[in-house]
Amino acid sequence: MALRIIVQEPDEVLHQVAKEVKKITPNVQKLLTDMAETMYDAEGVGLAAPQVGILKRAIVINVGDEHGLIELINPEIVSKEGEQFGPEGCLSIQGLRGDVRRAQTVTVKGLDRNGKEVTYTGSDLLARAFQHEIDHLNGVLYTDVAERVYEITPEGEEKV
Ligand code: NI
Repeated sequence: MALRIIVQEPDEVLHQVAKEVKKITPNVQKLLTDMAETMYDAEGVGLAAPQVGILKRAIVINVGDEHGLIELINPEIVSKEGEQFGPEGCLSIQGLRGDVRRAQTVTVKGLDRNGKEVTYTGSDLLARAFQHEIDHLNGVLYTDVAERVYEITPEGEEKV
């Protein structure tokens, strides 16, 4: 395991479309392991491969619920339901937060680290994390879709 460096805005890699993973090699599995370690170290709830400079379609999420760590390769949203509106941040964008409208529940399909097809359905924060991380694979940041973006203090409070 190894910590990777989290790429920061305005790095161009964050705005590019990541490529489908055609073959799950030990390198891809190591990428997932490193991404999870990097996410935990940064105290985030999700991380996408472009955020560590790798343009591959892979994400990790752990929102602290019963799913624990979710690793997904080539994830796709297959259905969306309802709506939620709330604050979102990103490990690649320091000092900002934004209010983003997202689906309330999503079902996501992808491959696990062994190439097995897996499906997750999540609501609330997990649904938000799926949508945020999959956006990263398409070069889309929450600041591109937020209805309002605002500065926050180091303590996480909105700056007035
Ligand atoms: Ni992000």
